[in-house]
Amino acid sequence: MSDTVKIVRTVHDLRKVTAKWRHRGHSIGLVPTMGALHAGHVSLVRLAKKKADRAVVSIFVNPTQFAANEDLSRYPRDEAGDLKKLDDADADLVWAPTVEEMYPDGFSTGVRAGSAAKELEGTFRPQHFDGVATVCAKLFNQVTPNVAIFGEKDFQQLAVLLQMVRDLNMPLKLIGAPTKRDTDGLALSSRNAYLSATERKIAPSLFSIISALAGDIAEGADVAAGVTNAKRKLTAAGFEKIDYIEVRDSETLGSASTASGRPLRVLAACWLGKTRLIDNVAV
Ligand code: PAF
Repeated sequence: MSDTVKIVRTVHDLRKVTAKWRHRGHSIGLVPTMGALHAGHVSLVRLAKKKADRAVVSIFVNPTQFAANEDLSRYPRDEAGDLKKLDDADADLVWAPTVEEMYPDGFSTGVRAGSAAKELEGTFRPQHFDGVATVCAKLFNQVTPNVAIFGEKDFQQLAVLLQMVRDLNMPLKLIGAPTKRDTDGLALSSRNAYLSATERKIAPSLFSIISALAGDIAEGADVAAGVTNAKRKLTAAGFEKIDYIEVRDSETLGSASTASGRPLRVLAACWLGKTRLIDNVAV
């Protein structure tokens, strides 16, 4: 266990700390996480420290964003390891509520995620973004951050939350941070821990294949033909199932046209054994 970074588990204790900071005129940066922290999370904490006087990291494996058939019960948890990393990253406070504190008996209000949640992940995980939006709305109300930092690895999540903050006039700024990758290109993710040694060797080809597709489109290649080719390459690399690989408008995540001149994003989700990997790159 860490002996320096402070951890609080009740809204009451959290408010005592944040009220003191507010009284001193300190701004607050929030990094929402589900724990099992890796270097990507640590980089978000360091960014929060640059953007605000105080960095709060929430650790909460949020049950409402997992469907019944998903990996809630086996989701990796390592609180002691997380606290050590957060100490090293100089976080000021860890907000780690229990499920009962977050969703007490009688809890029944939620946020319905907006249009950015439709399609892509929304097609394969229909309730997911409502759960994410609801828990993030609660985290924002609990911590009252000036800024909250999210990794671009979950690009659609960031778009959904930007839309929520805009639509509901929430008084904070969201900042997206570039995806951290292993040296072979694999996007850092807590779920990479599920990969077998063989799967881990295959996994980086997701990034190389979508990067090649983004490069081809930037050079004027036909999008539909490029996507078909990328799917063929993913299958040849060993991905058993491809949920989607799509080229979308970077901001709305709606359908994209290369003629529009608007920024585009390639987004993909596919399976290696029992592990679902997602990644995305700018065109
Ligand atoms: O990206 C995550 O880890 C989660 O979806 C988040 C934003 C912490 C909400 O539970």
